[in-house]
Amino acid sequence: MSSQFQPTREDRFTFGLWTVGWQARDPFGDATRPPLDPVESVHRLAELGAYGVTFHDDDLLAVEPDRDRAIASFRKALDETGLVVPMATTNLFTHPVFKDGAFTSNDRDIRRYAIRKVMRNLDLAAELGAKTYVFWGGREGAESDAAKDVRAALDRFREAIDTLASYVTERGYGIRFALEPKPNEPRGDILLPTVGHALAFIGSLEHADMVGLNPEVGHEQMAGLNFVHAIGQALWHGKLFHIDLNGQHGNKYDQDLVFGHGDLKSAFFLVDLLENGGYDGPRHFDYKPTRTEDISGVWASAEANMRTYLILRERARAFRADPEVQEALAASRVDELSVPTLEPGESFDSLRNEEFDLDAAAARGYHYERLDQLAVEHLLGAR
Ligand code: GCO
Ligand code: MN
Ligand code: MN
Repeated sequence: MSSQFQPTREDRFTFGLWTVGWQARDPFGDATRPPLDPVESVHRLAELGAYGVTFHDDDLLAVEPDRDRAIASFRKALDETGLVVPMATTNLFTHPVFKDGAFTSNDRDIRRYAIRKVMRNLDLAAELGAKTYVFWGGREGAESDAAKDVRAALDRFREAIDTLASYVTERGYGIRFALEPKPNEPRGDILLPTVGHALAFIGSLEHADMVGLNPEVGHEQMAGLNFVHAIGQALWHGKLFHIDLNGQHGNKYDQDLVFGHGDLKSAFFLVDLLENGGYDGPRHFDYKPTRTEDISGVWASAEANMRTYLILRERARAFRADPEVQEALAASRVDELSVPTLEPGESFDSLRNEEFDLDAAAARGYHYERLDQLAVEHLLGAR
């Protein structure tokens, strides 16, 4: 196989320990794979060309229940392989105590426990050099609209994030927060369900400058939304702090497929945007090797995420470099959208009195079909 698709550290591919380590337990069936030692994951991912790993506090305890020993062997594996930990997060969803949420549980004692649990793992994240801390509020939500006062829940969510942001500042950890939206699953409805909701929430925070987003491909697509547009807007707000790459087929349960194994055309345009849109963070995979796989299939799927990204990156570059595409982009006047609609200092009268041929403008075609077909042909390797 061609070495141009062999990942290197410079590609900055990272994986959650919980991805390759997923034992494939689902609501209908038991685990199909044995637990995976995080130490082994670090070594295998390093061999495959990954740059780093990320973890929930509880992931480190997959095979070694003693926290100090688990951390020590994890650190040793990082030192041996040179893998880094750019991001960490907290498990605020597995334990039954979080059944009504963590920061927004109706139970105040539980809310206080959740904040403490994050503080403790923030200390470890800082020690390991993480610069981003993700908050995925999977249990922050409800099944009944009678059960949750959404306005009070958002007050408590804001209180928790602002408290933890102050904690990070006071300790001088230099960590930024990234909120991860998801519309549903495991709760019937999750708070901050989309990128747009989360952006609006961030604007209300005392420490808004420290808080951005960790959008996940499948989560926006579960809500029928366009992920490339979500990322475009997150970049526009300067809030794309991190990203969870995976695959999803439309509106259904969270599939967490390998990157590109869902909506491939959207994945092509996403890579094009990430490579050209000014995002310089890690390319983080948050996927689940399907339940059918044994351990060899797990490593094949890890490799598939990175290869697919690199192939799409090469395809996106070929698309941009093709003179016919450049000519088609010009014919579609894609660049014209970057020209401000008004002249600098232009008067209202000048705008109002302008001559305009309404029928001629209405008749002009945009030639987007040709442009889209050129993208599809590059994606398919037909050009
Ligand atoms: C999911 C989420 C999680 C989070 C993870 C890190 O749908 O299960 O995507 O995988 O990303 O908990 O915060
Ligand atoms: Mn997911
Ligand atoms: Mn995720």
